Formats: sequence, structure tokens, C-alpha cells
Amino acid sequence: MPLPARDPRVLLGLEARDDAAVYALRKDLALVQTVDFITPIVDDPYTFGAIAAANALSDIYAMGARPVTAMNLAAFPVRSLPLGLLEEILRGAAETVAEAGATLVGGHTIDDPEPKFGLSVAGLVHPDRVLRKSGGRPGDALILTKPLGTGILTTALDRRMIAEEDLREAVGMMRALNRAAAEAMVDTGVRACTDVTGFGLLGHLHELAEASGLSARLCLNQIPVLARVWDLARHDAVPGGSRNNHRFLMEHVAWGDGIKPEEQVVLCDAQTSGGLLMAIPPRRRAQLVRALEERGVSGWEIGSLTRGRPGRITVVRS
Ligand code: CO
Ligand code: CO
Repeated sequence: MPLPARDPRVLLGLEARDDAAVYALRKDLALVQTVDFITPIVDDPYTFGAIAAANALSDIYAMGARPVTAMNLAAFPVRSLPLGLLEEILRGAAETVAEAGATLVGGHTIDDPEPKFGLSVAGLVHPDRVLRKSGGRPGDALILTKPLGTGILTTALDRRMIAEEDLREAVGMMRALNRAAAEAMVDTGVRACTDVTGFGLLGHLHELAEASGLSARLCLNQIPVLARVWDLARHDAVPGGSRNNHRFLMEHVAWGDGIKPEEQVVLCDAQTSGGLLMAIPPRRRAQLVRALEERGVSGWEIGSLTRGRPGRITVVRS
């Protein structure tokens, strides 16, 4: 089937593989669009709605944009589960969208035996300030704003290897908007950005590095990881998606001496509503970390972009 002629106002579309699409409205204004939905990862419906909303909003923030409107997408077994649960999911999402300073303007629900929930989000940005994956330069420092391990922890809870309260820190991370992180990066001249979600830290870094035409070098000891995650990985509490990421990334990653498979898989762990991964010139990294901290966000420097085969990642222990 021939593709329709490309609209020149589509600045980033299907072929761009960025976090969201960008459409020029005027010389100084562009529309950013994204959609994301997930299956329940926690039992509490309000919390699930809040996490799904933070997760969907994240792609707007990863582009350096500001969300303005959102629409719910819900699949729910209307005959077998009480509708009050769906109302709680929607309430969690609505409050998170409000916290983002955006407005919920509609949505749609279908009957489905497997619950799913997410949102389509629209944002605005100046076309010259869009943060793409391709903007990285050699020597840029890599900064990550949330610790890893939400996939492993939710899998461990599923298998009853941990208690509900062991998930509290991870839930706090997944509910936290990337809004403040995005504002800090727009203020301090970050050159490239993406958010860490289903492909894990290494999968998303691989995309950013490849798009920038560069390799990357990471330092395992500097990568922030949630409590208990190293131990749970050793005990095999690893979701299938994270294992697939690990397998797929094998050909792109050079592992330093003595880095064990159970450590490798943590860096490939599929995240829900993970942090932003940013590339910034080294002379501005201290300013970025300070701007993040002023907004209550942590920024960990985990490595750098280097010249070399596009998308290649070297992981050393320290
Ligand atoms: Co994304
Ligand atoms: Co996404």
C-alpha cells in the first residue's frame, strides 16, 4: 500500500522513533502527541490509574514539551468487576493529569476481560526546543532521574517474594511525574532526552546513542537501583519483558569483566513510568543536577556518550 504524501508540518512522525510525534502549528508553536496504555501492575485501582497517567504523560516531558490535554483509554470487564473500580482508576488518572497542569477532556471505555488503562496526551512546545533522541554529542554526560527495578519488584510481589509494603518506594517513583525533571532540563540546555520504560535503561540508551550516531559508556556502580532489586534479580524475580530486552541487547553491549548476568538484567529491566535519561554537555551537568535538586528530583550521572559504533554500549563496574 503506497504511503500518503508526507505533510511537511509533521516534524516528527512514524519514522522518527522518538517518544512522541510533533506537528508544527505555527513557526513558534508545535503540537506534541502520544498515547500509552498498560495492564494493572498494582492491586489498588486509584494507584494504578495514577501510575498509568504519569507513564503516559512522560513521553510529552521526554520531548521537552508541556502537556495540555489528555483523554482516557480504558478496557474493563464491565460485567464481572464492580464499576467502582473503574471509577477509582479514572480518579487516580484525573488527579495526576491535574497535577501535571493539563486538562482531561474525554475518553473511551470498552468491555474487555483483561483490564487495561492509559491515556492519549497532547502537549505544546516551541519547534526549536524539541528534545530528540538524536541530539547527543561526544562527551555528553548521561543523567538519569529515577532508580531502576520497578519491573523486578512488581514481579516479585506477584510471586509473593516480597510484601505489598516492600513496593512502596517503587510505587512512589512510578507515580511521580517527570514534570519537574523536564522543567529543569529545558532550563539548563540538555541536548537529547528519552524516558526509561519498557525497553529498560540499556534499551532506551541504545536508541538514544544510535539516533545520535554515538556509542555510550556506563558505570555500573553509579546506576541507581531500588532497594532489594539486586537480591531479587539473583533469585530470578525477573519479568519476561526484561529477559527479552537482555537477549535483544546482547549484540549491542560489551560487558566489563565480572559483571554477572543477574546484574546485567537489572540494567535491562522493563520499567513503568521510569525516569528521564538526558545527555548534557559536561560543563553544564553540575548546573542540571542543581536545577533538578532545587525541584526535589535526584539526578544521577551514570556515564557518557562517546565516539564509536552507533548504539554500542560499554558497561564497566566503576
Ligand atoms: Co518514551
Ligand atoms: Co511510550
